[in-house]
Amino acid sequence: MIPTTTQSSSPTTERIFGSSQQVLKETSRLGQLIAFDRVLSKIPYPCTRQAVLKRTVDAWQPVLEVTNDTFESTKRKLLEQVQPERKTMPTSVSQFLTAKITAGNTAAEMHKVAQRVLKDCTSATVSPVKKSHAGLTGPTLLVSYPKTNLQDKFSLVAYVIKWSDREEIAGNLLYRAFSQKFGSDSPLGFSVPKCCGFDFDSNLQVTSDNTLVSLPTDVSKAIKASFQSVAHNLSPDMELHGKQIMAMERIQGENLYDFAKSKYAGLDDAQKKELFYNLGKLVPLDILLGNNDRLLKLDISGDNFLNSFEANLGNVMLSQEQLNGNPRLHAIDNALEGDLSSNKQIQKRYLEIIQTMFKDPNSPQAFAKSMTRSISDALNTQLSEEPLAAAKETQVRLGPLFQDLGTIAQPAFEAGIRDGIALLRKELIPAWDSERSAELKKQLATLHPALLEAVNERLTAFATTKETV
Ligand SMILES: Nc1ncnc2c1ncn2[C@@H]1O[C@H](COP(=O)(O)OP(=O)(O)OP(=O)(O)O)[C@@H](O)[C@H]1O
Ligand SMILES: [Mg+2]
Repeated sequence: MIPTTTQSSSPTTERIFGSSQQVLKETSRLGQLIAFDRVLSKIPYPCTRQAVLKRTVDAWQPVLEVTNDTFESTKRKLLEQVQPERKTMPTSVSQFLTAKITAGNTAAEMHKVAQRVLKDCTSATVSPVKKSHAGLTGPTLLVSYPKTNLQDKFSLVAYVIKWSDREEIAGNLLYRAFSQKFGSDSPLGFSVPKCCGFDFDSNLQVTSDNTLVSLPTDVSKAIKASFQSVAHNLSPDMELHGKQIMAMERIQGENLYDFAKSKYAGLDDAQKKELFYNLGKLVPLDILLGNNDRLLKLDISGDNFLNSFEANLGNVMLSQEQLNGNPRLHAIDNALEGDLSSNKQIQKRYLEIIQTMFKDPNSPQAFAKSMTRSISDALNTQLSEEPLAAAKETQVRLGPLFQDLGTIAQPAFEAGIRDGIALLRKELIPAWDSERSAELKKQLATLHPALLEAVNERLTAFATTKETV
């Protein structure tokens, strides 16, 4: 049966977060689905596609259920159903299915291939991957397809693949640990998607339960090639900027810019203030860990570091459990600025900035002001990049957020920044300095020792500033 809906209560993403063998299986399946999707792309979408796939399943399933038929007879019956002259499907689809069946040399092989095609038919009702338009890095691929299991239960496989670097893999480990206070409930008010990473330079897999697995060189190579073929199947000339790979749980939500356009106006004042407060709470941690690419982008090399650049609204995501529900904050793209662990001069300057900033009791106010401007500038830039036909409507949709930035947002940012600093001082830095972070530090020491050393220096510099803020 082909699902008529792709709804599922809990996304099934287990294989991409599993062992290296499972990752290889998942990426190879995804590659095949993309190839099938390209063949199906000429079919008007989605009802006709669904009908064609259902006809294939309905015709093939009974043939494959007969176990005492000969190889030749089974093959003939399978092929009969997909011949172009039957006109039940476009020629390209007939050719694709015919090639699959004729490739099988034994009954077992042919059965296996045909069964896989049937599985793919339940998944290929939608295109399985979309490439995110954001960013010059990546690419970031958003994967989502329905899947059936033996009990004919449907679930949604949903995850994100991103070509990235060690700074993001390590940064994600750090953000996850801080968001969970190294093992207990988070007081910071944001979460980080489940994630695994592959560092192909050192043949390491960072698993989703935060352990490091050393991969044999040939396995590491095979995984890299398998991810690459997913990208090339999708678009042969897709440029892969990142050298390492991350796979992440796909958040069923929107980034801050898309949320501002579609859902923000539906929030009440208390929800809006809570949202701004939580965004503010994230800022001190971003500054200390060295993620200079989210809500407040400091000018590290200029004279006044608060001459901030525009925020990157794509690096915060919001989800809601129900319409107009309280937005939940997710920190994504947690890369730490590379220069902050590789350039001694910039590292030194950044340490001075931290010491100056966190000594000054007025800095939360200054940060909040800068943050307001960074977000407003980012909204204006993204608005100016919208296609002309959509820009007018988008401007109207963004109106409520623009208006609130000047009124309720800035004080809520400031309150969040103050509380974020207090939490770091009283709970998070002591946890970082305790045994609870030992495992994480051991992993970072293997994955990216320079980054661990630099982060430790920054956190220590912060902890030694006096509590005036
Ligand atoms: N885990 C996720 N779940 C759902 N959507 C995601 C996820 N990760 C990324 N996205 C979507 O893809 C977009 C781009 O992701 P990301 O910021 O990681 O890519 P990027 O190439 O680093 O972008 P940039 O260079 O602009 O920062 C996000 O704004 C979001 O819309
Ligand atoms: Mg990003």
